[in-house]
Amino acid sequence: MNGKPRTPIARRLEGTVCVVTGAARGIGLAIAERFAAEGGRLACFDVGATRLQAAVAGLVEKGHEARGYGADVGKRDAVAAAFEAVERDFGAPVGVVVNNAVWARFQPIAEVDEESAGRMLDVGLKALLWTTQAAVPQMKRRGGGAIVNLSSTSGLQAMTDSMVYAAMKAGVLGLTRAAAVELSPHGIRVNAIVPGMVGTPASVGKFDEATIANRLAAMPLGRFGDPEDIAAVAAFLASEDSRYVQGAQLVADGGWTIAAR
Ligand SMILES: NC(=O)c1ccc[n+]([C@@H]2O[C@H](COP(=O)([O-])OP(=O)(O)OC[C@H]3O[C@@H](n4cnc5c(N)ncnc54)[C@H](O)[C@@H]3O)[C@@H](O)[C@H]2O)c1
Repeated sequence: MNGKPRTPIARRLEGTVCVVTGAARGIGLAIAERFAAEGGRLACFDVGATRLQAAVAGLVEKGHEARGYGADVGKRDAVAAAFEAVERDFGAPVGVVVNNAVWARFQPIAEVDEESAGRMLDVGLKALLWTTQAAVPQMKRRGGGAIVNLSSTSGLQAMTDSMVYAAMKAGVLGLTRAAAVELSPHGIRVNAIVPGMVGTPASVGKFDEATIANRLAAMPLGRFGDPEDIAAVAAFLASEDSRYVQGAQLVADGGWTIAAR
């Protein structure tokens, strides 16, 4: 069994303007593809210009509506300008935001440097402040919206060399809850996905054979996640099907964190 959908995809996001950050590859691209298949109008944010162009071209070739924005999500002004451009380009306010972009370095504690730590927190945590700030006025104007934030099992359980990453991903969960409480009166839902190990070049793609075997042995469902597995969860949280889900952290890890070892 893999993460490819085996049932027809519903069009739960028909006509909704959806911002996906880090949409040029990996999980972000899978989310953009899934949202487009569900009828979403895609605004893809990424700093990888060539990859972004290819990702957007791929969506458009399949008949979807998609535009690329080269915004660095760690920069508040750039995010604000990109959200304004999205509303102008699509002629409608943003209804869904997925905060997926990441810039990560895994370093032993003694080697953590100011520049890497700062960049990680800018892209993976502070960016969520800026996109939420920029999205809320647009979502209020359309009578509500959904924000989906990518955390990680590293935000729940510890691994070596991941002090900054763990802080960032635990921070995403706290930010998600705080935003959910504050934005509830406006019909804006904010939820987090907590993926385990997903087969992207930035993650499982970097493991050696022994690590792969060890990790698979600890995985109740017996496989790593596919980006499409996470995209399916994102589509649920972005859609009205999750209308009573607020401030949640939905773990999608093949059972990794609940298994006794
Ligand atoms: N892959 C996994 O196993 C895994 C597990 C748990 C959580 N996650 C989380 O899922 C999300 C996606 O992971 P992935 O493996 O697909 O990552 P990835 O590294 O493959 O993709 C991240 C994307 O973000 C873009 N990006 C980086 N800096 C940016 C910036 N400043 N502004 C805009 N875009 C920027 C990159 O260009 C890239 O396209 C991340 O939040 C990650 O922490 C991944």
